[in-house]
Amino acid sequence: MTEARMGSGQMFDNIADRYDRLNRIISMGVDQSWRRKTVAALQVTDGARVLDLATGTGDLAIQIAETHPECKVVGVDPSVNMLKVGRAKLDAAQLGRRVTLLEGDAQSLPFDAGSFDSACIAFGIRNVPDRERGLREMARVVRPGGRVCVLELSEPKRGLLSPFARFHIRQVVPRLGAWLSGSKEYRYLQESIAAFPEPEEFAAMMERAGLKMVSLERLTFGVCCLYIAESQGGGAAA
Ligand SMILES: C[S@@+](CC[C@H](N)C(=O)[O-])C[C@H]1O[C@@H](n2cnc3c(N)ncnc32)[C@H](O)[C@@H]1O
Repeated sequence: MTEARMGSGQMFDNIADRYDRLNRIISMGVDQSWRRKTVAALQVTDGARVLDLATGTGDLAIQIAETHPECKVVGVDPSVNMLKVGRAKLDAAQLGRRVTLLEGDAQSLPFDAGSFDSACIAFGIRNVPDRERGLREMARVVRPGGRVCVLELSEPKRGLLSPFARFHIRQVVPRLGAWLSGSKEYRYLQESIAAFPEPEEFAAMMERAGLKMVSLERLTFGVCCLYIAESQGGGAAA
């Protein structure tokens, strides 16, 4: 995958119509429970404005809106086709008035400082070319003290079951994904997980970006990590 395609959403345009189904199969259905933990970590209050970056087909945005009927959610993603699937889901769930999906890039957000109460990004930061810049943008647009949560896959290195989890990510995911989707995008998924920083290293990047770490939770044998932080306002300088 070339730098030009990465972060543009182009790769996801190609698999948008199969994305949700593949997600459920590849994660063996646990992806939605990881999103539920993220929703809880956001500490959404009545009337809150929540930003969901790399929203894709809107699964997390929808969960937030359904869990908190008084909040408003804005989802941002560069993939037009993923957003198209997301908008159809919003219509079906009658959430179109509380959830807005916009085309955009996590590295440069068209929002004023402090315009959201909390923000999240699920399985998306891996795809953002300049991750620290994306994190700085999250720190900037969330009011001081508001939650910023990152949900991301990782290759588990410790624990009795970590070899099995690694085997699943390295061998099963790309093959199953390629077979089910008929495209090679799922090889990129495995490669990008392997290339992602270690959890502690990524948490340090979040701090550098102007976020204050609250906790780092390893989920399902460490296959996925939930990074919970607070904005300190402004985001760190580039
Ligand atoms: C694996 S999907 C995750 C979608 C959704 N958050 C979920 O939980 O299913 C990754 C998403 O990241 C988006 N993406 C890629 N580059 C991006 C960028 N620079 N800024 C924001 N989103 C980006 C892709 O278009 C894709 O929809």
